[in-house]
Amino acid sequence: MIRALGITIPGLDPFLRDELMELLGREAKRVVPGKLEFPATPEEIIRLNYSSRSGIRFLVLLDRRVLDPIDLNSIKRAALEVDWSLFLSPESTFAVRAERTGFHDFTSVDAAATVGEAVIEHFSSMGSRIRVNLREPDVTIRVYISGNLLLIGLDTTGESLHRRGYRVFEHRTSLNPVIAYSLVRLSRWLDSLGGGARPVLIDPMCGGGTIPIEAALAALGIPPGRWRRRYPIKHIKIFRGISTEAIFTEEDSRREERNLRIICSDVSPKSIGGAMKNAASAGVSSWIEFRVMDAADLKSLGRIDYVATDPPFELRTGRNRRLEDTFRSMASALEEKLEGRFSAICAGPALPKLMRAMGGLRLIFNARILYGGVVARLLAYERRST
Ligand SMILES: C[S@@+](CC[C@H](N)C(=O)[O-])C[C@H]1O[C@@H](n2cnc3c(N)ncnc32)[C@H](O)[C@@H]1O
Repeated sequence: MIRALGITIPGLDPFLRDELMELLGREAKRVVPGKLEFPATPEEIIRLNYSSRSGIRFLVLLDRRVLDPIDLNSIKRAALEVDWSLFLSPESTFAVRAERTGFHDFTSVDAAATVGEAVIEHFSSMGSRIRVNLREPDVTIRVYISGNLLLIGLDTTGESLHRRGYRVFEHRTSLNPVIAYSLVRLSRWLDSLGGGARPVLIDPMCGGGTIPIEAALAALGIPPGRWRRRYPIKHIKIFRGISTEAIFTEEDSRREERNLRIICSDVSPKSIGGAMKNAASAGVSSWIEFRVMDAADLKSLGRIDYVATDPPFELRTGRNRRLEDTFRSMASALEEKLEGRFSAICAGPALPKLMRAMGGLRLIFNARILYGGVVARLLAYERRST
């Protein structure tokens, strides 16, 4: 077993922690918001890159320590203690990328250069030379500094896992699929499948369809990595000799045939056209019903079992009264017909409007997440009588 670091959007830690338990049966420990440490085998790290819906990156964790003081000297000393030759060979090229939060008297670029120097010194002390390639490295070393905490790891993911690869239509405010999946989880729709009934999941403001698509992929057990299948692990020694294809095939075999009911509706015909294209690209069109519909007409649907949605945040058009009216009509439909849960991500001027409108329902989840520089809320409501 090695130490691994799973990274997600700060605030979605509980979703990644539950997923690690589900996929590996292992407890993970939160190190800082959005970063979880857990033991894993190299095969399991490949598996996570292919099958995780909640993670955006997985690292082989090489060092985690608190430095006091934290400065370039102490970072260099820590990096010199890593036995780099267990993981890298001098024939490979590398780059160090650093991210920093908190107040320090050095920049992220300084920290990256310092760790890079330590790697070069490690190999030269053994009589070999390793080269830096900042543009196309064989191996990327990632350094995260948060206050006094230093984390050093090897990237096994490459391009962030939220770039699933099925999107052919980009909605102007498309939702990160990792958040979309969290909303599906939060709605509890996935937990309700399996019995004889076919509970319906509705996204009444579906835009390019990210939430319904992520819902269908998860319910059918289709790995989100199936459009990528490539991870930058070839040059990391501990992954040598492992057949990634065998792992992918095993993950693909978990697919379940299911009869689902998912409704993807939006007031904009253009969005619905785009959602249909995205769903076709993801191979899940047959499980989703597409409708051009105003969310204010939610009541017209026979059944409202579960709802997961991403309304406009109105960051630029905050004085628009129509949205509050729409939320009120939606809320009245939910008060009457919601069987399971309503989940949503909201921020900006739309957030108080949504929360006011939902006042007749019971708020059962309210968490802050940092999304693209905006502080947003993940909310879940149930009917008061349920
Ligand atoms: C933030 S976007 C959703 C983006 C989507 N989650 C995605 O990943 O592409 C909000 C959507 O709400 C839709 N919308 C706004 N007002 C609406 C209304 N009254 N009824 C239905 N949809 C509405 C907009 O057309 C827009 O597509």
